Amino acid sequence: MKDLRLKAIYNQTQVFLDELMVPANDRAYLFGDAVYEVLRVYHTKPFLLAEHMARLARSLDAMEIKGVSDIRADILSSIALNEIEEGMVYVQISRGNAPRNHSFYNQALTPNILISAKPFLTHPTLKEAECGITVITHEDFRWGRCDIKTVNLLANCLAQSKAHSLGADDAIFIRDGHVTEGSSSNVFLVKDGTIKTPPLSRHILPGIRRQFLINAFCAEGNPVIEQPIHEEELFLADEVFITSTIKEAISVTMIDNKPVGSGERTIATLARKLIVDRAQL
Ligand SMILES: Cc1ncc(COP(=O)(O)O)c(C=O)c1O
Repeated sequence: MKDLRLKAIYNQTQVFLDELMVPANDRAYLFGDAVYEVLRVYHTKPFLLAEHMARLARSLDAMEIKGVSDIRADILSSIALNEIEEGMVYVQISRGNAPRNHSFYNQALTPNILISAKPFLTHPTLKEAECGITVITHEDFRWGRCDIKTVNLLANCLAQSKAHSLGADDAIFIRDGHVTEGSSSNVFLVKDGTIKTPPLSRHILPGIRRQFLINAFCAEGNPVIEQPIHEEELFLADEVFITSTIKEAISVTMIDNKPVGSGERTIATLARKLIVDRAQL
């Protein structure tokens, strides 16, 4: 039987993930001072690698984490090392190790770079894609830079756990009466054939799937309108769906225990097809 112990690359050294020890003074551990990326692997290849690397560079820049060289080769190595056909790669880059001080001003720290990969033995979200998911709305109580992909996801964890405690699958954040995004996804809705998603701002992550779908729908002749979405619009929509690298596109069937539209899923199904077709290329 194939050895399923996962191998990771930590600071360019190959390690078994379950044996890896990281320093307790890593600022990721002390302050959540790290950024990350999640990539989907289809047929042994990382999907939309350039887009993920561009977002990672933007996150590093926004966090003023310096001294990170090109990690593409290590991403490809982690896929090969774990013989991944279908799966994902997780990349985390922390500012580095230092005595516990809030300020990092004038400190020449060396980032710690973890790259791990995991195979999907079955499709991770096929059931959700087939059945749809239920969500709650939840106050967006996160910080003011949700556009940076940092590992500071505590509010997201609390919101998703709250959803689970209420018997729902996930949470959609609402800030000042408007939809921002899901606890780990972007949100789209469809009303009278028009597809809408909230515009980019400091309150949402510029999702790689979000942008992929905006481009793909545009090419199909059905442009997505990037416009603020009032909370009420969720309850008047014909369709609501969420997108992420791992979830691809998933239809939302109930919001706060109320059914979405009449159960129509045409656009969510098309969104998923656009992603899967492109991933097959
Ligand atoms: C808060 C949040 N928004 C949006 C997304 C979707 O981003 P992507 O499509 O790049 O996976 C994620 C993915 O993890 C997320 O955590």
